Amino acid sequence: MGIKNRVALITGSASGIGKQTARRMAENGAKVVINDIVPEKVEETVAEFAAAGLTVMGQVADIANKASVDAMVQAVVDNFGSLDILVNNAGMERAGALRKLSEADWDITVNINLKGAFLCSQAAHNHMVPNTHGRIINIASRAWLGGPGQAPYSSAKAGVVGLTRVLALELGTKGVTANCIAPGLIYTPMWDELPEKNQKFLLSKQPTGRLGETDDIAHTIMFLADDESGFINGQVIYVCGGRSLFSG
Ligand SMILES: NC(=O)c1ccc[n+]([C@@H]2O[C@H](COP(=O)([O-])OP(=O)(O)OC[C@H]3O[C@@H](n4cnc5c(N)ncnc54)[C@H](O)[C@@H]3O)[C@@H](O)[C@H]2O)c1
Repeated sequence: MGIKNRVALITGSASGIGKQTARRMAENGAKVVINDIVPEKVEETVAEFAAAGLTVMGQVADIANKASVDAMVQAVVDNFGSLDILVNNAGMERAGALRKLSEADWDITVNINLKGAFLCSQAAHNHMVPNTHGRIINIASRAWLGGPGQAPYSSAKAGVVGLTRVLALELGTKGVTANCIAPGLIYTPMWDELPEKNQKFLLSKQPTGRLGETDDIAHTIMFLADDESGFINGQVIYVCGGRSLFSG
């Protein structure tokens, strides 16, 4: 029951949603792998969590690079003995009007958000299937429904939803589930950098009138990762304060 003693790899977990999820999972007894592409952030996060008595290990890896992902997943299994939970969380966005976006904007956004989730799921499922247990949780975005100025990001996140559905169909009989969370606006340091007029506009569109917290996503991830959530498969759960109810 729960996630106690389960091994969880959370990509991009030296910041924001991933970091809070890593903290909550470790507090609930999971052995947690902190991954990020920025070495100093991994080092700091591991030191912070270890000082709090949590069981964590760090893995610096670029999730958009197959060799880097394969080496990371092998290191996790060598160190903790299994890989039970994969949270494909690392992501970023290059936004702009269609006419202003470059090929590089498209490539980096799709590579990190979508190809990264594919590579990590592929490497992880090799260890989950023989154990007949696994939970893959992909972090998409409400923006997969479409957002103006978000061509690469919306497309990549729509791809994440498609990938989730395929994983659910291919792995379901093997004890491995795959689900997707579509967060809306969540309070992270990025929010503070937005001009006040943009913040006001975005808040005016929120049915709850407020932003979500990283814990709103962490709790939902833990629910899906739970041993007892094995009959939830291939779903998209919106954690967006109702913002998915209308477009734009
Ligand atoms: N914050 C929001 O409002 C929001 C809303 C919807 C969806 N999301 C999604 O939630 C996820 C987490 O977002 P966040 O706001 O916590 O972001 P964040 O920027 O705080 O954290 C993302 C982390 O991923 C890391 N990363 C980037 N590229 C990487 C790579 N190639 N390999 C490994 N790590 C890499 C970054 O260094 C960073 O530490 C993302 O997938 C994002 O698209 C966020």
